Amino acid sequence: MGGQNLGYAATQIVHNFGAVAVVGGAACALAWREAAAQRGLARIVLAGWAAQAASGATFGAISFYYYGKFPDIHGVAMAALFVKMSCAALGFILAARQIFFHLPETSGRHAWLVLFGLGALALSSAAVLRWFS
Ligand code: HEM
Repeated sequence: MGGQNLGYAATQIVHNFGAVAVVGGAACALAWREAAAQRGLARIVLAGWAAQAASGATFGAISFYYYGKFPDIHGVAMAALFVKMSCAALGFILAARQIFFHLPETSGRHAWLVLFGLGALALSSAAVLRWFS
């Protein structure tokens, strides 16, 4: 039980900081327009989305390791998890685009707005997943 709780807690630490990175990073990028800052923030946000997907999967892996099956969730909780996973996939792609493609000023700003929205949506879905599972 100790090992399992430690595993969940360590994973949750990564997951919480990842959430801060994706939402906070996009918010900072909207306010802080200098090119070097934008590049740094894009890297932080990309790493944040990757951390969310990896730590989210680790939650499932820990449950599978200890119980031999994934948590039994359905309905609203399953929909919330699906939304989070979709946000992570889209967010990762968009953040990578900010780094590897030279976008015009307006498209770059629009992408940051979408990234912020995806982060906010994922964070809201996390609350739904937590209380409907
Ligand atoms: C592949 C994507 C993701 C997966 C598989 C995933 C999975 C999970 C799981 C299994 C939990 C524990 C749920 C529970 O306590 O019942 C969790 C919690 C949480 N997730 Fe995610 N997650 C993902 C992406 C995200 C993203 C993108 C965010 C935010 C930007 C996020 C924010 C949170 C937060 C804040 C919690 C803690 C909720 C609480 O206990 O109140 N997750 N996630």
